[in-house]
Amino acid sequence: MRAKIIGTGSCLPEKIVTNDSLSGLVDTSDEWIQSRTGIRSRHLVSSKQETTLSMAAKAGQAALEDAGLLPQQLDLILVATVSSDFLTPSTACMVQKELGACHAAAFDINAACSGFLFALNTVDAYFQAGIYQTALIIGVETLSKLIDWSDRSTCVLFGDGAGAVAVKASEEGMVACLQGSDGSGGDILVCKSRRNNNPYVHTGTDLDYLYMNGQEVFKFAVKKEPECIQSLLQQAGMQPSDVDYYLLHQANYRIISSIARKLKLPLEKFPSNVGHCGNTSAASIPILLDEVHKKGMLAEGNTILLSGFGAGLTWGAALLKW
Ligand code: COA
Repeated sequence: MRAKIIGTGSCLPEKIVTNDSLSGLVDTSDEWIQSRTGIRSRHLVSSKQETTLSMAAKAGQAALEDAGLLPQQLDLILVATVSSDFLTPSTACMVQKELGACHAAAFDINAACSGFLFALNTVDAYFQAGIYQTALIIGVETLSKLIDWSDRSTCVLFGDGAGAVAVKASEEGMVACLQGSDGSGGDILVCKSRRNNNPYVHTGTDLDYLYMNGQEVFKFAVKKEPECIQSLLQQAGMQPSDVDYYLLHQANYRIISSIARKLKLPLEKFPSNVGHCGNTSAASIPILLDEVHKKGMLAEGNTILLSGFGAGLTWGAALLKW
């Protein structure tokens, strides 16, 4: 049995922050941000009630309702995030409590922007092994709390939000999937962000915010993601044109269009919401999937390919029948 997505949901914070309003915070402009990234605005949390947990639970509930599943029917909850509210309990366990999914096992996965794909591939492996039959997968980030809001090279790129899918074990659904990591390249995208008050280790208590070498990340993305897509298609014995939609990690529209060019495919096959969401890391693919599904763009039997890359370094992809 393989993983089949049977429902989607998402949750975006109410506050929309435009590029123009960021130019009041740092020395930037709408023109610079749009021409380099395609981003026009992003949603950011703006109250104590909007947290990683609250967004994850809302997106998860919406996915379950879309699938017609009750929380008590879930065997497994996986949450992909690098910005959980607590180190422990995990966001997945907190979502379990919030939804009343009393029979589910729950844990978090940290693979940065590839996290949702790592979680989907993990669920698929559990299903193939016959261990579980139903799962809720959530990608959620509140990256706004990890960002240095005085660093114009990163603060304009990211947004907050959550996306979720309800998944069941089925004869069809997942066709092929892959994931990979290269820890040796990890220092181009780093966030330490942990207080250490151990009296025996004199590291200070300053928090380190997100650091990114943008150009190196760009080079990694435009090389690794098409390679990853090509090898997944090869594994499935398919051509790039056999796929109806490519739902890629929404980091930068220039990266998405470069991948479309490399695959010699029209941009219409690459739906995008980076313009109004920015980069929401592990949440970006499931938020986009929910958007595309709710717009009625997906028909039964469509072939979709999800793919992404991120800190670690990590990358992953999944080819699915809708
Ligand atoms: N507004 C205005 N100017 C800015 C700016 C901003 N928000 N951020 C950086 N700049 C400036 C730089 O200081 C630099 O100025 P200088 O030439 O005087 O030093 C100039 O713009 C060019 O900077 P550079 O970093 O070379 O820009 P770029 O064309 O590489 O674009 C990114 C920067 C971040 C948009 C691009 O590298 C990128 O998209 N990288 C991938 C990021 C990504 O996908 N991250 C997510 C990983 S999951």
